[in-house]
Amino acid sequence: MSRDLPGSLVAGAKAIVCAKETSEKVRLAYAISKSWFQRDLALGSPSQAGPMPDRPGRPDAPLLLPPRDMPKRKLSGAAGRVALLHSLAHIELNAVDLTWDLIGRFAHIRLPRSYYDDWVRVGLEEAKHFSMLDDRLGRLGAAYGDMPAHDGLWQAAQHTGHNLAARLAIIPLVLEARGLDITPPMIEKARALGDDDTAKCLEIIYRDEKNHVAFGAKWFRFICDRNQLKPEPSFHALVRKHFRGALKPPFNDRARSEAGLTPGFYKPLAPLVG
Ligand SMILES: [Fe+2]
Ligand SMILES: [Fe+2]
Repeated sequence: MSRDLPGSLVAGAKAIVCAKETSEKVRLAYAISKSWFQRDLALGSPSQAGPMPDRPGRPDAPLLLPPRDMPKRKLSGAAGRVALLHSLAHIELNAVDLTWDLIGRFAHIRLPRSYYDDWVRVGLEEAKHFSMLDDRLGRLGAAYGDMPAHDGLWQAAQHTGHNLAARLAIIPLVLEARGLDITPPMIEKARALGDDDTAKCLEIIYRDEKNHVAFGAKWFRFICDRNQLKPEPSFHALVRKHFRGALKPPFNDRARSEAGLTPGFYKPLAPLVG
């Protein structure tokens, strides 16, 4: 293991969340994942590494605004395309912090090694997604930090900081599953506008995110099983408690089902259509 790496997976997860610069988060995510998969890194514990921070480290730019003050994003025109890529890059940066926070924050709970293998893979892929979009912004003469971004996603994590089942319900099974609904139309639109490079980035993200939802569904069921709880009613109760508003159709039923998120989970949480 190289000398500048934290000494355990938990310490590494904390270092990624605390890192201020995006390049450092990405560098650490790649290095720690590699070391974990080479079996060079111990899990460690929160008592050795210290508690996870309440807020992630973030660069000086972008300026963070309340979600209601954010301008609407469009994919038409050069400025619209940059704004869309910027907001997607921001979502992926949040996903980096949220995934590594998940790895570090709940490490006091006894979980199989395969649990960490799954989420380290997710943490690596989120870093890759951020880098791809950041790179795409660069090719369009822009950069992450050029425009404001919102702070809503991290708040979702704070609301579930105490409860692993709630965290899995809200992050992979509500928010990332929503990504499965909205990404295919974005890919089609990018292709229709002749922006094949953006479409290719979105296709990679879509493919990876199906796995992230699948890991969420798998480990949510595992936690429910361990606590002798039924997964669907537990999911409904946690989402009603921790997520504001109904889940918005149309749903990508096929991709959701392939990920193990069957309609019995989300349909009862959608508004009734009359
Ligand atoms: Fe992602
Ligand atoms: Fe993801």
